[in-house]
Amino acid sequence: MFETIKPAPPDAILGLTEAFQKDPNPRKINLGVGVYKDGRGQTPVLVSVKEAEKRLLSSEATKSYLPIDGLAAYATACQELAFGGDHPIVREARAATVQTPGGTGALRVAADFVRRISPQAKVWLSDPTWPNHPNVFGSAALNVASYPYFDAAGNRVAFDSMMAALEVIPAGDVLLVHGCCHNPTGADLSSEQWQAVAALCAGRGILPLLDFAYQGFGNGLEEDAIGVRIVADHCDEFLVAGSFSKNFGLYNERVGALTLVAAGADAAAAAQSHLKICVRTNYSNPPAHGGQIVAAILGDPELRQTWEVELAEMRDRINAMRHLFVETLDEQGVARDFSFIAQQRGMFSFSGLTPAQVQALRERHSIYAVGSGRINVAGMTESNMEYLCAAIADVLN
Ligand code: LMR
Repeated sequence: MFETIKPAPPDAILGLTEAFQKDPNPRKINLGVGVYKDGRGQTPVLVSVKEAEKRLLSSEATKSYLPIDGLAAYATACQELAFGGDHPIVREARAATVQTPGGTGALRVAADFVRRISPQAKVWLSDPTWPNHPNVFGSAALNVASYPYFDAAGNRVAFDSMMAALEVIPAGDVLLVHGCCHNPTGADLSSEQWQAVAALCAGRGILPLLDFAYQGFGNGLEEDAIGVRIVADHCDEFLVAGSFSKNFGLYNERVGALTLVAAGADAAAAAQSHLKICVRTNYSNPPAHGGQIVAAILGDPELRQTWEVELAEMRDRINAMRHLFVETLDEQGVARDFSFIAQQRGMFSFSGLTPAQVQALRERHSIYAVGSGRINVAGMTESNMEYLCAAIADVLN
């Protein structure tokens, strides 16, 4: 059976990390995978996480299975973080949350659920989007299509083209929108634009699926949730795929959540029974540790305060790097206008570098970026900035 298998291509993002690790150049820079680095180029374990882990270790009494849908305290914490403390959706039990292995796991459970309930539904993805999106939905045997999202010439959301495309999406299809910190462009919808998208979904019977992996990395925990909350105001039914890889730095714990919102508590409970089948037939029940950490931090005022400060530090450092990058490119004599990078939010920006320029950065300077030109701003530091900008000046010439 295996004799004739041809090798599959490396993953567009995680494959870069493998190549980066093999590169012996001491000046190498990884702007590929979306992992936060501090000013020393390290991906730290947050103080709040370490403290929660200490407490968990000393109080842990069993390693028995979690329920299929995960920890109840985690589900409540996820809903409160996304919708806000006393939101009617939470109060009226209109939301069902399943704890998943990472945001990718949440997307896959969403995909399996849609396939189970409505196999004809097509999933609409922004163009461009995270390169794994089409693969996740395609692997669940769903059809995918794309809608225009980014105006590369103006470095902003191509909102008119986006709305024109959304207006002809059939009822019952799924519209995936990045909740904040759009991956890969860093260009987000304004609240007015969210209002228009949410009203259109409600009016046409399109199911919004918000990929919400970067809450707190853009403008703040509450500010980054405006899209989710506007959709909650307009739409009776929607899905939110969340991740705590980035905002808690819990990448390798694989901790995410799929939250389904229904028009009423009975519908939510019925839908949850199907979500549980999707989980049970896939990974049975989630790993405990990451969810326990998140629930412990969000449930303890002191730990939560520490975490919010740490999250703000990460956000502020990324935004400071955005400004320093633009300034340093200027100092290196780069004539092209990169000022849009300072306006964008989250870990990523679309640099506008061509695939050939990205390849030249890697071959000549050991700087790794995604072939599309996406750069992870969180991989920049004060110490690597000059080398990086000089290299970009070199490949642009
Ligand atoms: C990214 O886009 O780099 C991250 O979301 C990591 C991943 O899994 O691709």
